[in-house]
Amino acid sequence: MAFAINMKIEPQPLNDEALQEIVTLIQTQHGYDFSNYAKASFTRRVERVMELAELKSVYDLKFQLTNNKQFFPFFLQNITVNVTEMFRDPAFYKELSEKVIPVLATYPYIKIWHAGCSTGEEVYSLSILLKEAGLLDRCKIYATDLNPLNLEKAKTGILSTKQMRDYTQNYLQAGGKSEFSNYYTARYDSVIIAKELRKNVVFSQHNLVTDGVFNEFQLICCRNVMIYFNRHLQNRAYDLFYNSLSHLGFLTIGAKESLLFSPIKQKFDAVSAASKIYRRID
Ligand SMILES: C[S@@+](CC[C@H](N)C(=O)[O-])C[C@H]1O[C@@H](n2cnc3c(N)ncnc32)[C@H](O)[C@@H]1O
Repeated sequence: MAFAINMKIEPQPLNDEALQEIVTLIQTQHGYDFSNYAKASFTRRVERVMELAELKSVYDLKFQLTNNKQFFPFFLQNITVNVTEMFRDPAFYKELSEKVIPVLATYPYIKIWHAGCSTGEEVYSLSILLKEAGLLDRCKIYATDLNPLNLEKAKTGILSTKQMRDYTQNYLQAGGKSEFSNYYTARYDSVIIAKELRKNVVFSQHNLVTDGVFNEFQLICCRNVMIYFNRHLQNRAYDLFYNSLSHLGFLTIGAKESLLFSPIKQKFDAVSAASKIYRRID
C-alpha cells in the first residue's frame, strides 16, 4: 500500500520505567550518569535520538547502546544540547566588561573556568574581551565539557562564515572596541579564530555530575548548562563552583538559571541580578 511506504515510523513514547533502564544501562556500560538530569527535557532528547536513528522501540535503543560501539558517540552528541554562540546575550558581556574585568585586572595572574563550554564560542568571546582589556597574557582559561566531540571542535577554533554577521552584531552590542574581523581569518566558508585568542585556553573533559574541584579560579562561567539538571544536581554544581572559587571570585550563570533555590545562595552577592553575575562573599 502506497501510504504505508511514506508513513513515518514514530518511536514508542518513553515511560518512566524505560527511561530508568536506559539511564542505568548508559551508566554501567558507558560511565555517564544522567540520573539527575531534568526528566522532561532528558526524555525529549532520548526520544529525539531514537527518531534520528530510526529506532522504533526501547528494545532497539538498548540493543544499540549495548552492542554497537559507534552508536554511543552519536547518542552522546545528540543527547546534550550543544547550542551556543559568540557573545550570546550581549548585555551579559557588557556587564562582565564593566563590572568584573576591572576587578580581575587587579590580580597578577587570572584563572578562569568555562564549565559546559560546548564548541568554544563563549570562551573565544571572553578571550576577546580580555585581550581588549590588556589582560589576556595574564590569563589561563580552562574550558571543559562533558562531550568530547564538542571539545574537539572547540580546539580547532574553526567556525562557519555564515554565523559571523550575527556574531559581529553581538560583539558590537556587547561594547566591543575593535573591528570584529581582526579576531579571525576567513578561509572559504569557514573562519579560524586568531591564534593569540586560543593560546591561553586549555580544553579538557570534565563532568559536572561526577568530577570534582581541579583548581582555584577568579571567575567561573557556567551558562545554559544547569538548566538541564534537576535541583539536586544543580546544587551539586553550585557547591562545586563555590569550592572552586577564590575568595571574592565571580560566578556567572545563564539567563534562565537561578542561584536563589540553592542553599549556598547566602554565600554569594549579586553583582548583576539581571545578567546573573554573582560574587563569592565568604
Ligand atoms: C547549551 S550548551 C551551553 C554552551 C555555552 N555555555 C553557552 O552558554 O553558550 C550546554 C553544554 O553543557 C554540556 N554539558 C551537559 N551536561 C554536562 C555535564 N554534566 N558536565 C559538563 N558539561 C555538560 C553539554 O555537552 C553542552 O556542551
